[in-house]
Order: sequence, then structure tokens, then C-alpha cells
Amino acid sequence: MKAGRSLSRDFGEVQNLQVSLKGPGDYVSQADRKAEEIIHAELSRARPGYAFLMEERGAIPGEDDQHRWIVDPLDGTTNFLHGIPIFSISIALERQGQLVAGVIYNPAMDELYTAERGGGAFLNDRRLRVSGRTKLTDAVVGTGVPHLGRGHHGNFLVELRNVMGEVSGIRRLGSVALDLAYVAAGRMDGFWEPGLSPWDLAAGILIIREAGGFCTDMNGGQEIFDTGSIVAGNEAIHRALLKTLKKPLAPRV
Ligand code: IPD
Ligand code: CA
Ligand code: CA
Repeated sequence: MKAGRSLSRDFGEVQNLQVSLKGPGDYVSQADRKAEEIIHAELSRARPGYAFLMEERGAIPGEDDQHRWIVDPLDGTTNFLHGIPIFSISIALERQGQLVAGVIYNPAMDELYTAERGGGAFLNDRRLRVSGRTKLTDAVVGTGVPHLGRGHHGNFLVELRNVMGEVSGIRRLGSVALDLAYVAAGRMDGFWEPGLSPWDLAAGILIIREAGGFCTDMNGGQEIFDTGSIVAGNEAIHRALLKTLKKPLAPRV
């Protein structure tokens, strides 16, 4: 929450900086690093000796190598930079390689998504369940659209062409942690994106699974961190989305 307050304060300032000549770029990276510093200090105090994998600082070994925090201190950096209030903090705990706890916090909407392995998933104090929709034609699906400096534009256009012809809507929020949290909350029925890092994904994977959803890599396997890709949804939507994503390019209409 402390990091959330810090990001909220900085977000307010970023909105003012939009008009400044220099722009808020450096300011945002400071906000990012400050949030990570707060999170590292608080978690080290709460669980001394645990290892870390943090987006800005990388891997930090710990005496207790059975436990590892996986942290994205600010997910949705571009939104934050542009004053768009869709960003989050994502923290997961791994025990002997298994995700056992996950937290995603959206300070702009004061929404706290949490899950513990075997304990269910929650949004603030409300229990979460993935959407009940079973047909892609009824589904709203999220994804990440590559941009300048990001690869796989060609593959994405094939995936998009196939998926857009089969769903009710496609959304690109700009914070994959919140995309995954929205799937867990049933706000979106499915999600896919390649090119991601463990800190983008870890908390959202556990929260979706504890909300009754399915997460695999884009080959349908469990190598999500190694492939950097994810397909998520309830059992029917996850299966249908995987099948659609594997199709060769749909004929031009
Ligand atoms: C990014 C966001 C975005 C996703 C990118 C991520 P960042 O994280 O989650 O939605 O499409 O692949 O890198 O850079 O804002 O922490
Ligand atoms: Ca980040
Ligand atoms: Ca991220």
C-alpha cells in the first residue's frame, strides 16, 4: 500500500508534467525505482532472507533460496507516463518454484486483487470467479499490441485477424497484470500475449487459477515464464482461444 501511495502521489505530478517541455520521462522512471525501493524494503523486513526477481533490479539472491518474490513495481508504465489511470503493482511469492501468493494493486481505482494457493482469489473483500461465458462469439478478449521497439508485429497481425473475426470485442489495457486480474474478475473472458516477463505474469497467473481459470503458454503448455507467452480464460474460452491462435492466416474477406 505504501508503494501504491507513492505511485498515486507521483501519478498526480505526472499529469502536471504532460505539458512540460522535458516531459515526464525521467520523472516516471524515478517513480518506478522509488516504488521498487519501497517494496524491496518492506518485503525484506517482513520476510528476511527471501530472494527477489524485480523488474528494475533483476535477480537478488537470498539466504532462503526456497522463497522468491517476483515484483513489477509499476506495470503499465506507458499509461502512467501519459497520465492514463490504468497501471498497477504486481507482487507474487514463489515457494520451491510454485506460485503460492499473488497481489495486484491498482492505486488509481483502489482495487486490490489477492490470492493464496488453495485459498481463492479476491478483489478487495469480494470473492472472484472467472466469467461463465463459454462461446468466443460472446467473449471480450484482451491482448497486448506490439509497438515501436517491440517485435512480432507480423505474428500479432495474424493472431489479431483470426481472433477479431470470432469475438465480441478486443481490449488493450496497457497493464498486463490488470488484464489478468480482469480475467480473474470476469470483466474480460480471455487474454493472450507473447513477449512478457515473469514479473508481468506471476501474480496474475495465480489469481486467475484461484478464480477457477486456466493459464498456459501459447503452445498450451506450462512453460509460461520460459516462453514469455500466456493464454488465459475459463476452461472453454481458454481452449477455444488456443485453437484460434494456432490457425494459419484467415483468408482475406
Ligand atoms: C508492460 C505492460 C503492457 C505489456 C508489455 C509490458 P511495463 O509492462 O504490462 O501491457 O503489453 O509487454 O512490458 O513495461 O509497463 O511494466
Ligand atoms: Ca514495469
Ligand atoms: Ca510489466
